[in-house]
Amino acid sequence: MSYPAQSGQFTLGHRSVHRLGYGAMQLAGPGVFGPPKDRAAAVAVLRAAVAQGVNHIDTSDFYGPHVTNQIIREALHPYAEDLVIVTKISARRGPDGAWLPAFSRAELTQAVEDNLRNLGLDVLEVVNLRAMFNAHHPVEGSLEAPLAVLADLQRQGKVRHIGLSNVTPTQIADARRMCDIVCVQNYYNLAHRDDDAMIDGLARDGIPYVPFFPLGGFSPLQSSILSEVAAALGATPMQVALAWLLRRAANILLIPGTSSLAHLQENLAAVALVLPYTAMAALEGVAAG
Ligand SMILES: NC(=O)c1ccc[n+]([C@@H]2O[C@H](COP(=O)([O-])OP(=O)(O)OC[C@H]3O[C@@H](n4cnc5c(N)ncnc54)[C@H](OP(=O)(O)O)[C@@H]3O)[C@@H](O)[C@H]2O)c1
Repeated sequence: MSYPAQSGQFTLGHRSVHRLGYGAMQLAGPGVFGPPKDRAAAVAVLRAAVAQGVNHIDTSDFYGPHVTNQIIREALHPYAEDLVIVTKISARRGPDGAWLPAFSRAELTQAVEDNLRNLGLDVLEVVNLRAMFNAHHPVEGSLEAPLAVLADLQRQGKVRHIGLSNVTPTQIADARRMCDIVCVQNYYNLAHRDDDAMIDGLARDGIPYVPFFPLGGFSPLQSSILSEVAAALGATPMQVALAWLLRRAANILLIPGTSSLAHLQENLAAVALVLPYTAMAALEGVAAG
């Protein structure tokens, strides 16, 4: 059985995906802007991920912009029947690579059209609306208007399911009164645990929580506790960080990002790592530290 298959399954929309997936953001150029140094290597990473059982890929057309989706299409189109590609909208890139809000009806509609074209799809399986009141962390503010636009696009058949990203519990509750929300994607990892209660609440309702920056993102996780636990288990710190997330809650779906085949292999193999109770207890100290 492949590593992703060993990670277990969870329902995402009306599909079931392996809990270990892949995040494609790292495939664009430095700063997620422009083309990668080695496009062939990016294609190879995507093909290796899918060949080894990954059936959930996270992306956005504002990675590059357009670059990551075009590489996904080149590498994987026509897509395997079981592959679920999740994208996100509501941001655009400035000429200097800045991440800017793009919340108007015209911008959201254009973003869906751009994702469809660049991915080569007739319908987007899941589109996350990413709140941009603050680009870096969730801030309260109404998502009603952009969600209404996304719901219209869903009724037109361009979007199958709607998710949320960079959101607060209030925004999730408000959104769920407007439409079905099939996943929530927020910043969360071993050292950054603001969403502990949110994860448990979503688990009770059977909604997947998809942590972005599972390995720390642009500042990969560094902790002496993490390194000690990893050394004791004969694993790498990144493998322990992923294994911890898999064990943290059954509704967590992983999308670690990498542009490296070696890191991809390492991350996939994290599924086989069993974290004993003592390791789980020690790792609680990472967030506290
Ligand atoms: N919704 C949102 O707002 C949002 C925001 C950020 C990201 N995302 C999504 O979440 C996904 C995951 O986040 P992310 O890619 O930014 O961060 P991440 O998965 O936490 O970490 C990626 C970083 O870790 C490195 N890395 C990966 N595997 C490694 C390993 N085994 N050993 C050492 N270093 C390793 C990568 O470098 P190498 O390329 O050298 O391996 C890269 O620098 C993204 O790909 C994207 O799809 C969503």
